[in-house]
Amino acid sequence: MRVQLDPGTVALVAGGPGDPDLLTVAACRALEQADVVLYDYLAPDVSGLVRPGTELIAVGKRPRSTDTTSQDSINALLVELAKAGRRVVRLKGGDNYVFGRGGEEWLHCAEAEVPVIVIPGVTSATAAPAFAGIPVTHRTLSQGFTVVSGHAAPGHPSSSLDWRALARSGTTLVLLMGVKNLAAIAAELQAGGLASDTPASIVSSAFGDTAAVVRGTLDTIAALAIEAGIKPPSIVVIGAVAALDLT
Ligand SMILES: C[S@@+](CC[C@H](N)C(=O)[O-])C[C@H]1O[C@@H](n2cnc3c(N)ncnc32)[C@H](O)[C@@H]1O
Repeated sequence: MRVQLDPGTVALVAGGPGDPDLLTVAACRALEQADVVLYDYLAPDVSGLVRPGTELIAVGKRPRSTDTTSQDSINALLVELAKAGRRVVRLKGGDNYVFGRGGEEWLHCAEAEVPVIVIPGVTSATAAPAFAGIPVTHRTLSQGFTVVSGHAAPGHPSSSLDWRALARSGTTLVLLMGVKNLAAIAAELQAGGLASDTPASIVSSAFGDTAAVVRGTLDTIAALAIEAGIKPPSIVVIGAVAALDLT
């Protein structure tokens, strides 16, 4: 794709899973043209990739933190900056369209008649497992992968996932935001028929200085995560491939 970021335009740009080397060429081109970058707490440090004078604004939404900017304020700021004629990059960790509120931001800009372009990129859903030597598919082991959010606990009114059906999907399960509810999720998957000795691994802060990998089974992974002090951002991989270590 040829990136042309005109004044008054918003670019929703994938920041990748944390390492600036995993930004796409298109992302770098958008960053070079930006007047202002609104970045997320999981986005990579791009201060060396923008022109001198480009404004960098942190609008992180840290889980369970008071240090957050509401989605409404972010939407309003995107439109305000674009209407002021600035070239705006909205940089997210991973891909904006994978649990990144990118669709909402696109709609908000479009409703305000602000031109918006989308630069897709590398999602942590596949990159974090790869960091730990886990391919999410592998011939003979897994013919597919299912990416779900573990943010809402099984049975919680805001959860729309059928965990017992997921247990029978025959695919690798990749959980984002699943650490807090891991014990409940693992129990529900076992209740759905997934064997307790199914391999399960956690990849925490992939590509970062505090990266950690914990390997276990569906039965043991929640306790192992607590023992290892695993915190977000972390990805849980469940399925035969989770036992692989192609590092
Ligand atoms: C709000 S979601 C955003 C996902 C992002 N848009 C993507 O495509 O990767 C945040 C979750 O992504 C996962 N995540 C993002 N970066 C990660 C990393 N470097 N290592 C492990 N997990 C990561 C974690 O599950 C974290 O809680």
